[in-house]
Amino acid sequence: MERRNKFVVVLASAFLFLVQSLLSTTCALHRDHFPPSFLFGTSTSAYQIEGAYQEGNKSLSNWDVFTHSQGMSFCIIHTCLFWFFHCAGGKIKDGSNGDVAADHYHIYMEDIGLMHSLGINSYRFSISWSRILPRGRYGKINPAGIAFYNNLIDSLLLRGIEPFVTLTHYDIPQELEDRYGAWLSPKIQKDFGYFAEVCFSKFGDRVKFWSTFNEPQMMVKNGYGTGEYPPMHRNKEFIAGHNAILSHATAVEIYRKRYQVKQQGMIGIVIFMCWFEPLRNNSLDFLAAQQVMSFQAAWFLDPIIHGDYPPEMRQALGSKLPTFSIKERRKLQYKLDFIGINHYTSLYVRDCTFSPCKSSRNIDESFIYTERNGIPIGKPTAMPNYYVVPYGIEEVVLYTMRRYNNTPMFITENGYAQSSNSSMTELLNDNDRVDSMRQYLTYLNNAMRKGADVRGYFVWSLIDNFEWLYGYTMRFGLHYVDYNTQKRAPKLSARWYEQFLHGVEVQHEHEQVDMI
Ligand SMILES: *[C@@H]1O[C@H](CO)[C@@H](O)[C@H](O)[C@H]1NC(C)=O
Ligand SMILES: *[C@@H]1O[C@H](CO)[C@@H](O)[C@H](O)[C@H]1NC(C)=O
Ligand SMILES: *[C@@H]1O[C@H](CO)[C@@H](O)[C@H](O)[C@H]1NC(C)=O
Repeated sequence: MERRNKFVVVLASAFLFLVQSLLSTTCALHRDHFPPSFLFGTSTSAYQIEGAYQEGNKSLSNWDVFTHSQGMSFCIIHTCLFWFFHCAGGKIKDGSNGDVAADHYHIYMEDIGLMHSLGINSYRFSISWSRILPRGRYGKINPAGIAFYNNLIDSLLLRGIEPFVTLTHYDIPQELEDRYGAWLSPKIQKDFGYFAEVCFSKFGDRVKFWSTFNEPQMMVKNGYGTGEYPPMHRNKEFIAGHNAILSHATAVEIYRKRYQVKQQGMIGIVIFMCWFEPLRNNSLDFLAAQQVMSFQAAWFLDPIIHGDYPPEMRQALGSKLPTFSIKERRKLQYKLDFIGINHYTSLYVRDCTFSPCKSSRNIDESFIYTERNGIPIGKPTAMPNYYVVPYGIEEVVLYTMRRYNNTPMFITENGYAQSSNSSMTELLNDNDRVDSMRQYLTYLNNAMRKGADVRGYFVWSLIDNFEWLYGYTMRFGLHYVDYNTQKRAPKLSARWYEQFLHGVEVQHEHEQVDMI
């Protein structure tokens, strides 16, 4: 009897599982396809939204100084660490800066209200280092900076929103640049460790998710390789990267030794990851695509997890790539609890090492294409070279799962750019963003079904904001921002996300949102 019951239960659950799998592959996307504990959120960063660049005793950051010295022509942009040419006027496309940005510093409570309406359970933001430590470790901790983030964190928690905190999202106190060249010097490790420890000790009782860096590859490639970002150095990206990797390890070591057991949080790093598809169906292009993935993601993740750079990078770069001492290697073993993935697009790769190309644009002798036989890899967006290629998210997640032993992953950014010069009606009725989100989430879910340990998804971004070299010409927000009045208005995508998070079956029909 007992056995028979058991058998019936097993049979019934197998049947249920089958029905569930069938339903989930044939039906629309549903919140229930993701575990209840899954973090669904939105992402922002300090410099892009806060403004108040000289308030509360904050010092100038590298980005304040950079945006205030316009002039150098803006001629190169990067997509997935590749060069694409694109000439415009000043350094920042519209000559703007983050002095005011979306004024979040003053109206963060309103922004938390928007998050609450969406129904998100997590919010990813970054801390402005120059608010907390205006002079790095050469001066005092700034109480006004601590107070701002305490208020933000407490207000989030009151609304049931889990803070997911990035320590540095490109911006650092300018003083560290002036004193010793920031990421070019090993001295930055001590400064970063000190800053991290101040944050763990002040906020770690309430913050359970820490990432050390946002997209360190973009930070060093653009700031130290091509010179488009501050401090505008060239050909020094591997030295800057080396110091960033060791700074990451320093912060993780401090967290694990002194805070993690007590505070029970996780610490990781956020990596920029495009998917690279071989242009032609041959083994050369397959190898080239794999190689490009290594140069992009494994550049940082291999050392942090396995203690050294990927062999293919060492082979291609030789002595241009710094080496880790034995002591440093020991310090680098498995120095993270999760991998954050920022994923926006996919590109084609063609081998140029063993087959002739017209020209080569990258260190590893591969050539990047956005089209195959005249057909774009996906639907274009307002951001040059960013295409909507939903299966790409499944590919990057499976790649990361295989290469790093299914370390827990979060999609820390995924988003869709609109051009600011579109009409208000178009901006609010962002059906293309809705399509993009729905499709990317569907493919993310596929990866999870194949066993990938993905624990969260954050849309870039909560609100329109300062998009680095593009200034205010690009809009990534679920909410529209009128920069004259700082009024926010939900776009269709905000309503869509809200419905999805509230468990509404989201087939997508195109609707209308009224103008504000
Ligand atoms: C800024 O620093 C000065 C000098 O230490 C202090 O008197 C003032 O109260 C601080 N301002 C804020 C907003 O904390
Ligand atoms: C790629 O080439 C292999 C054989 O080299 C072939 O079996 C396969 O069908 C091709 N795939 C596509 C998509 O053309
Ligand atoms: C709007 O911006 C896009 C992308 O920045 C640009 O390609 C286009 O020419 C602009 N259109 C107008 C009417 O200015």
